[in-house]
Amino acid sequence: MCGIIGGICKDNITPILLSGLKRLEYRGYDSAGVVVLSNDNKLSRARAVGKVVNLETSIQKQSPKIQGSLGIAHTRWATHGEPSTQNAHPHICFDTVSVVHNGIIENFLKLKQEQKAQGYAFTSDTDTEVIVHSIHQALKTSESLLKAIQKVVKTFEGTYSLGVISSEYPGHIVVARSGSPLIIGISDKGNFIASDQVALLDITKKFIFLKEGDTADITLNSITIYNQNDRQINRAIKTSNLKNNQIDLGDYKHYMQKEIFEQPQAIRDTLESRITKDTVLLSAFGHHAETIFTNTEHIQIIACGTSYNAGLVAKYWLEDIAKMPTNIEVASEYRYRNPIVLDNTLLITISQSGETADTLEALKSIKKRHKNIHTLTICNCAESSLTRESELILLTHAGPEISVASTKSFTTQLASLALLSVAIGKCHKQVDKQQEASIVDSLNRLPGLIKKTLEQESQIIELARSFKDKFNAIFLGRGTMHAIAMEGALKLKEISYIHSEAFPAGELKHGPIALIDKDTPVIAIAPNDQLLDKLKSNLQEVKSRGSQMIVFEDEMSNVPPMKNMTVMSITHNLGRITAPIIFIIPLQLLSYHVALIKGTDVDKPRNLAKSVTVE
Ligand code: AGP
Repeated sequence: MCGIIGGICKDNITPILLSGLKRLEYRGYDSAGVVVLSNDNKLSRARAVGKVVNLETSIQKQSPKIQGSLGIAHTRWATHGEPSTQNAHPHICFDTVSVVHNGIIENFLKLKQEQKAQGYAFTSDTDTEVIVHSIHQALKTSESLLKAIQKVVKTFEGTYSLGVISSEYPGHIVVARSGSPLIIGISDKGNFIASDQVALLDITKKFIFLKEGDTADITLNSITIYNQNDRQINRAIKTSNLKNNQIDLGDYKHYMQKEIFEQPQAIRDTLESRITKDTVLLSAFGHHAETIFTNTEHIQIIACGTSYNAGLVAKYWLEDIAKMPTNIEVASEYRYRNPIVLDNTLLITISQSGETADTLEALKSIKKRHKNIHTLTICNCAESSLTRESELILLTHAGPEISVASTKSFTTQLASLALLSVAIGKCHKQVDKQQEASIVDSLNRLPGLIKKTLEQESQIIELARSFKDKFNAIFLGRGTMHAIAMEGALKLKEISYIHSEAFPAGELKHGPIALIDKDTPVIAIAPNDQLLDKLKSNLQEVKSRGSQMIVFEDEMSNVPPMKNMTVMSITHNLGRITAPIIFIIPLQLLSYHVALIKGTDVDKPRNLAKSVTVE
């Protein structure tokens, strides 16, 4: 969480830092700050609570102006210490050293006590402040800023990506990374650092992706990188194929809206070159995929949030289509227990960002403890920590997802997981040519089906109006639709702040039905599948309790109209692959329009961040 940016350039760096920070806001927006080394070699700082625009306003009012060619900046998602100006980064020690940090220093309390005893004064409640004091202390006995940083990072437990400048070393910005992302951008304007390429796309397409444990000393004309053993090392310069317009809003009001409507293309891009008209290409998963899949006897999926919900759908598919025993667990729990991992398990991580700390750490710890397993990640970010840690990689080509609420990453994850289910099923001779062709046909029809569903937006806007005064909502579904109900509930709660829960419809009578009253809308998903009649009975149970109901059905489901029930037909003849991917679309639109009615900050809902790189 938290976004950092910095650099050294030929002109005034402040506008570059501010524009980059805005693009990093998806990583957190509790506060923002900037420190620039002025021409008279002084660190000048501005910080503000809330979004980057508040920082910008405060900088505009500031005199003398914050300008210079060397600087660092930060947008914060609060972990240690409330969102306040005092806790905002960059932190400064004795007016000479300044630091921006993304991550958590777990042993900060111990370091803080030691530093207090040495006479360092603390002005914030953050874990980060110990970093700046450590560097200040180490500089007394180090020959350079780089050496001081290489020394102190060895005393830190936890995760960090750091950008550091010092008035004693004008012309240098030093960085370090361990457990949190950091890239270097090379441009004819100068050299820059950031948590993510998107922050620098305006000025460069050339990037170096630092590896775990790397440190680097950056000047206007040089970049010197060292590995975890402090040995100088070369890291490749890569050219990003991200386009600037991919991260611009265009004619849309919000990124969430844009990303919902990008789904037909995102699915097309994800499927491209991975299927022919009737087959799934095993080569899409990498050279060794066929051998690994053939030897796989069990699957364990780990993920968080929306990615976990995609994994829940995949459990049904992998067991139904590939006949492969599959478990799924949220990464934040899995990483802290001693799970029994059987030999020949394929450990699958699913993640939009590839940087979610819980998922990454769960993967690392299982890899350390179990040798006879293989790993696959389904990820949207090619240059991410998860892709680096995994043997097999299947990239979802959703394009950059900026809105905190995941939408196109979810549907592209599902499309990828459908490919995987067929691929593994083929390797185990569980999927014949006819079944494969039929699933490929379903996948090929998805972009058109999604487009058609999106055309029903105006009806969903009508439905959203009835949520204006609601505080609770219940989502129901059976089979894979329970996972879709969970994803629908997650979307509604995170952007409209309506308390939403999802239940398997058959479980209602075992307790949750007590929650139902006339003020709690119930949203049910009714595909035309083998559980339809059971679901219809569950809807009768709800109706008897006087709740307002919304049912999204397949035209062929023929859910009988009842009092206080709106039935909206989505499309018809959806199957086991298409139904979950199509039924999430109206739920995404519903959440979006409810959030608009509630007047929340759709793309940046309170307390959240896009990429959760801390525990
Ligand atoms: C959902 O809308 C959120 N964006 C969140 O649940 C997210 O899916 C979760 O934090 C996992 O992120 P990842 O896919 O980047 O690993």
